[in-house]
Amino acid sequence: MKNIYISAPFYGYGNHILKQSGHNIIYGPKDLKSSIKDYHAIITYVSDKISESLLDEATKLKVVSNYAVGVDNIDLLACKKRGIKVGNTPDVLTFATAELALTLILNCGRQIKEATSDVQKGLWKKWRPQGYLGPGLQNSTVGIIGMGRIGQCLGKMLSHGFGVNVIYYSRKDKNLSYAKYVELDELLSTSDYISLHMASNEQTQSFFNLEKFKKMKSTAYFINTARGDLVNEDELIMALDKGNMAGAGLDVTDPEPPKENAAIIRHPKVFLLPHIGSATLKAREEMGIIAAKNVLMALDDKPLVHEVIDA
Ligand code: GLV
Repeated sequence: MKNIYISAPFYGYGNHILKQSGHNIIYGPKDLKSSIKDYHAIITYVSDKISESLLDEATKLKVVSNYAVGVDNIDLLACKKRGIKVGNTPDVLTFATAELALTLILNCGRQIKEATSDVQKGLWKKWRPQGYLGPGLQNSTVGIIGMGRIGQCLGKMLSHGFGVNVIYYSRKDKNLSYAKYVELDELLSTSDYISLHMASNEQTQSFFNLEKFKKMKSTAYFINTARGDLVNEDELIMALDKGNMAGAGLDVTDPEPPKENAAIIRHPKVFLLPHIGSATLKAREEMGIIAAKNVLMALDDKPLVHEVIDA
């Protein structure tokens, strides 16, 4: 019987798979620094940081099973050096995350935050011919930065579903039928909405900064469902205040959650969600199953369902 640690229970059948395994399941939160030495496997969330110094204590650990596709919360190289496998949950959350990016685009483009907030404050006194006017999606250009699984799924939703002109910037031209590859500067200066879908790593920290915000149309919206640290948040606020762009729809921040009085929380031009990209019942169900199976396969010295290999 091995010890499997999870900082908090997740949703769905994956829990059952773990319980049925006969292993000892330990739910947190616990201080990982002092307890990780006892665990053979851990299931981690994006909020669980797995650093090299933590791994120094992890003498029994065989696998870190991340309940997420992004693995920027884990020191992959440190895991590799110690022979600790890392698993993740790609594919099953692709649609849900693209759908949330689309939700943010639509909410920004139709001024939904302003409208619902006025209704709740009792400010819906009469129909306003000039109230809550937004650009909408019709005839717009959406620029996608980072054309991996989620970027491509969003591109298809926008092009096939809404007939939107989709352009993208990525490490290379992918010859896609529904979206056109352009250089970054062209994307920045011609998009009505820009949606970020890059992986967070050492090279991409603060990728989106004031210099890039300044190149956007002053009527355009910036959407981020990837990771907060891809963006220089102070410079995002600066760009919003200066009117370099119209607004931002964000599902991620840096840090996460933001500090209590952070400008990003209440900024009138920011539509902010608490990192819910994968939060559909279906995606979370499947993520739990994969995360559980990744643990059990590793404990049995078998190949993981999804192993992260590029450290
Ligand atoms: C969520 O942010 C994920 O990486 O799955």
